[in-house]
Amino acid sequence: MPDKSLLTTDRRHVVHSLHHAPTCDQAHIWTGGRGAMLYDENGREFFDALAGLWNVVVGHGRSELAAAASRQMNALAYATCYAGSTNRPAIELAEKLSAIFYPSINRFFFTCGGAEANEAAFKTARFFWKVAGMLDKTKIIGRTWGYHGTTLAAMSATGLPSYWPWFEPRVPGFLHIESPYPYRFVLPITAANDPRTPGQLAADLLEEAIVREGPDSVAAFLGEPIQCVAGVIVPPDDYWPRIREICDRHNVLLIADEVITGFGRTGDWFALSRYGIEPDLVTFAKGITSGYFPLGGLGVSDRIAAAIDEPNTSRAWMHAHTYSAHPVGCAVALANLDILEREGLVERAGELGRYLNRQAATLASHKNVGEVRGLGLMTAVEIVADRETKAEFPPEERIGPRIHEATQRRGMFTRMRGDVYNIAPCYKVEERQIDRMIEILGESIAEVLG
Ligand SMILES: Cc1ncc(COP(=O)(O)O)c(C=O)c1O
Repeated sequence: MPDKSLLTTDRRHVVHSLHHAPTCDQAHIWTGGRGAMLYDENGREFFDALAGLWNVVVGHGRSELAAAASRQMNALAYATCYAGSTNRPAIELAEKLSAIFYPSINRFFFTCGGAEANEAAFKTARFFWKVAGMLDKTKIIGRTWGYHGTTLAAMSATGLPSYWPWFEPRVPGFLHIESPYPYRFVLPITAANDPRTPGQLAADLLEEAIVREGPDSVAAFLGEPIQCVAGVIVPPDDYWPRIREICDRHNVLLIADEVITGFGRTGDWFALSRYGIEPDLVTFAKGITSGYFPLGGLGVSDRIAAAIDEPNTSRAWMHAHTYSAHPVGCAVALANLDILEREGLVERAGELGRYLNRQAATLASHKNVGEVRGLGLMTAVEIVADRETKAEFPPEERIGPRIHEATQRRGMFTRMRGDVYNIAPCYKVEERQIDRMIEILGESIAEVLG
């Protein structure tokens, strides 16, 4: 049992992310980590099945990262990076990123996390069109099931409605098209004799939305290459190339939210490269420091960088954070990227990802497993009440939470989306650990559903 007095103090003084009082009573008090494992107050060991929040990609307990932070804090813990100031780790990190990102992405603004990165992307997309004289190109089109963070505009771009109601009104000008969720995407009725594939039909929803709204009013389309938070939704292969074509046809910028998929999670450094396309703006966070220091950012293509470089003061890009390009965060990121390269961890994520997804597929025979899907070192198991109809269990049956509880009793911790169980461990995870994680999930599903 967790230390009750500490939890009482926690209840009295801490507001948690996605705060929900009953959940807080059961909180783990985490005290340590090593590789793919987490330890709690009582010395109990758990598989960190989601590598923190998909971010601790090099695993827990990497002293090189602590040393990099300590070195930088001793040298210079903080200095502003407002125009007119800069620092060596930020310069070196931006140069390094330009070598590993998409070829056309060579300029970077740094934030403290993913939502801030997306805010920067929305504002930069609008800025770009305004500088070009197209003052009305302001709308941002996102997708259902998309997750982009919880600041007001990022929440408005997020396509998971449970995040909205108690904080509305949402920011105007954010719309959603349907996600290309292969397991649940419903083809339009007109599709009977339509030669288009499901991926093309899903992408064409973007074109319909742009035409409906008016291309002169749309600044950008925003999407995660793989919708991870919603349960590792992998689009059909022909989806993203068509999205790129549609954006180009209508002068709409493409923002890739690679907050999770960036830095190797899919087995490629960045996920859109597997589809042979490049975004105009790309947001990142999480894996860049493996969570050892809060850092995120926005990368922009050369033509957007040229607009930001506009010398006219009245058109300055007036976006900023006190902690942008934090020297300690940038130093930790450099050390983290060094580990990823030196230990070949991006390739390892790809290889182990194939293993993880093969092992996870063995769970598909259970009568309530609707789909097992994944890409790279991520897998999701979607539980349904009825495989024929794909009907979900009523929320009051608490199937997802009960499976989550059962896995925790067996020593595994993750975050679920409803009845979808996500596994995305650190890139240092071993095959035998993957085997045990899948075994735990199988046993837990059987405990709850027979
Ligand atoms: C795809 C994606 N975008 C944005 C965010 C928001 O990042 P942050 O929580 O650092 O603000 C997340 C967080 O999980 C995410 O998964």
